[in-house]
Amino acid sequence: MKTKVNPYEVQGEVDYDRLIKEFGIKKIDKKLLDRIEKITGEIHPYLKREIFFAHRDLEKLLDAHDQGKKFFLYTGCGPSGPIHLGHYSVWSFIKWLQDKFDVELWFQFTDDEKFLYKNKTYEEIQEWTNQNMLDVAAIGFNPNKTHFLIDTKHAGIMYPEAIKVAKKITFSTIKASFGFTDSNNIGSIFYTAMQTVPCFLPNVLNNKDEYCLIPLAVDQDPHFRISRDVIQKLGHKKPAIIHAKFMCPLTGIEGKQGSSTDAKAILMTDTPQQVKKKINKYAFSGGQDTVEEHRKKGGNVDVDVACQWLKYFEHDDKKLAAIYKDYSKGKLLSGEVKTILIEKINKILSEHQKTKNKIDVDKFIYKE
Ligand code: TRP
Repeated sequence: MKTKVNPYEVQGEVDYDRLIKEFGIKKIDKKLLDRIEKITGEIHPYLKREIFFAHRDLEKLLDAHDQGKKFFLYTGCGPSGPIHLGHYSVWSFIKWLQDKFDVELWFQFTDDEKFLYKNKTYEEIQEWTNQNMLDVAAIGFNPNKTHFLIDTKHAGIMYPEAIKVAKKITFSTIKASFGFTDSNNIGSIFYTAMQTVPCFLPNVLNNKDEYCLIPLAVDQDPHFRISRDVIQKLGHKKPAIIHAKFMCPLTGIEGKQGSSTDAKAILMTDTPQQVKKKINKYAFSGGQDTVEEHRKKGGNVDVDVACQWLKYFEHDDKKLAAIYKDYSKGKLLSGEVKTILIEKINKILSEHQKTKNKIDVDKFIYKE
């Protein structure tokens, strides 16, 4: 299958080294990890394990931070369906960043984008926006330092900035970046401008000139590749970016998790029984056909989805290494690794669901 990575399509087995070259982004190297560790005191497993693997201008952001300058975080969610573990993992890392650096987080809900791109009504998208906001709030972001922007609701403050961005981006740039044709609707052509605004809106609102760091899954990079120069032309600082790989679907290591088909993703609303059933039934196994053969030859951790997913949920390096070793040697069976994974995930989901039930989402929504 041909590999494709852009905000509107992720297909095939992604070669991340090639992507780094194609996108013109940089690998997060040991030197950068050491710099981060010096500030945060520990290094998050997602950085160590290269789940967050690349960046733009992270050195510059850390230079500024070293000089005592402030930055804010910006990320977002396209509300068109349920939240799954792929979202959760990226956002839990962003919570870590917020806690460690003690910074503001601006969180955009792109209801406009999803209305324009998806075959859903405006009302359906509004319902997903409300639902998704609860899940995002339940991640545990600091309510005093987290600001939700909902594109259609905050249009009054966003639109004047969006048109300034839009004026500096041509239709041909958008066409080339996203593979659009003349039959795409005109709203989708404009949309990149809306996703650009939060890179500098906090500075406009508060009359400041802080740096911005955008943690995102790498498919979102093309929006900012277009708009970083525009942002600078408008007199603001270019945002720094830190890129995550995709958490693969249950069915195998190609592509990314999506919420559209049941089999591929674990949703934040799944019950313990559903999690168990999905993983046992669908998680692609890197094991051998029979137990005897598996004991002899061992399993392949690189394609085994349970093993790959444990990178996200078993934060203890020693434990993870032991599981990988035992599985490769045939000491652990596929079913046993799945059981470890199921337990980990169910613990996360049960806590998430409890928090979500108590959350006061209004505290997070930006008030003018
Ligand atoms: N377009 C993103 C999506 O479809 C949502 C989004 C908006 C976003 N702003 C962002 C994602 C900034 C990462 C960073 O999910």
